[in-house]
Amino acid sequence: MDKLLIEGGVPLSGEVAVSGAKNAALPILCASLLAGEPLALSNVPHLNDIATMLRLLGQMGVAVTMDGADGIVLDSGGLNNPVAPYDMVKTMRASILVLGPLLARCGEAKVSLPGGCAIGARPVDQHIKGLQAMGAEISVENGYVHAKATRLKGARIVTDMVTVTGTENLMMAAVLADGETVIENAAREPEVVDLANCLVAMGAQISGAGTDTIRIRGVERLHGGAHAVMPDRIETGTYLCAAAATGGNIRLVRTSAAYLDSVVDKLLDAGCDVTVERDAITLKAPPRLKAVSLRTAPYPAFPTDMQAQFMAINCVAEGAAVVRETIFENRFMHAVELIRLGADIKIDGNTALVTGVEQLNGATVMATDLRASASLVIAGLAAQGETLIERIYHLDRGYERIEEKLARLGARVRRVR
Ligand code: UD1
Repeated sequence: MDKLLIEGGVPLSGEVAVSGAKNAALPILCASLLAGEPLALSNVPHLNDIATMLRLLGQMGVAVTMDGADGIVLDSGGLNNPVAPYDMVKTMRASILVLGPLLARCGEAKVSLPGGCAIGARPVDQHIKGLQAMGAEISVENGYVHAKATRLKGARIVTDMVTVTGTENLMMAAVLADGETVIENAAREPEVVDLANCLVAMGAQISGAGTDTIRIRGVERLHGGAHAVMPDRIETGTYLCAAAATGGNIRLVRTSAAYLDSVVDKLLDAGCDVTVERDAITLKAPPRLKAVSLRTAPYPAFPTDMQAQFMAINCVAEGAAVVRETIFENRFMHAVELIRLGADIKIDGNTALVTGVEQLNGATVMATDLRASASLVIAGLAAQGETLIERIYHLDRGYERIEEKLARLGARVRRVR
């Protein structure tokens, strides 16, 4: 299993390009199931989660052509097996995103239940409830969701909580339904908007994406199309935190600050100097960061996917910060690993009290989930001495060529096989 060896203490400097957004690309790949014609995508990141999704779509009969760069063409003309088996779903919860499109296009779907994951139970009851409201017959047997519907019918759906993939699944199901669907309490995440833009390019009729009420007027069929995936706001935020924690000065290109207000605000509070251009962001860190308290919540509030990275920067900041996690019930697993590096963190339920220390010291730590891994990388870059991060397959799920990008910014980092 690969490990990452970091020799910390080097301020990051230089310029690096941000990749396409994993959480936008995954639902958009699934959108290809809705039309039996080619969907040409660009800015698709090279990540293990993307490879998993392509394998899943491939075994359903979708033809996948890659251009060797960041372009992929998907043609679901030959779709013949609307099944997502457990073996594939268990490694990536986002596989549940095939449920809505398969049901809409094929009239049936058999998708393994994703089960729990390290950061929490993460049920899919809202996905199922919404599809049932649209007339689907759904049973859960032997760990699989079996869904059937001759043609889905438009419905008014109010989700019990804000769910990102739930909103995406229901939006994809609704584009081919008979009549109008209204999703209320919809997720407002930019990735939902990117998916909606792609669906519209394929002939869907959607309004309100980016607000909490999305209206979808069903059409008979979608056609092929082309779409460029949005830049990854979480990868962007992660590199900004890495620069902040190391006292660095970096410029990120092929990205946008448009969806990062809550994150940039916290970096400004921490004392960083942030300059925003149309598709670039520059961050210059102060000699010592100030601790910043935060509370995660659905977009546009502070993203749960940036919580761990900010915990890492608070570890080396001046003062104390309260970090409150409201989305997932078990998302502080990085704390015990950060403590191994010398951090001062006290956890009480969904709240962490982080008191900054003068210096972290390298140690061997274990990555437990994707963003937890990112926080360990940031802490390792800021620490004195060597940090060895084990189980970095989590990182490879969501960060494209991370050691290469960090090395370009001057970090002393290498992959140990
Ligand atoms: C997506 C993101 C993930 C991010 C999360 C929250 C993708 C591929 N993943 O995950 O990176 O951390 O949004 O921003 O886009 N819930 C239910 N029942 C449901 C659905 C959700 O109880 O049917 C709960 C979840 O357990 C969680 C909360 O709702 O507590 C929000 O989860 P959700 O927005 O659905 O997360 P994902 O879409 O899985």
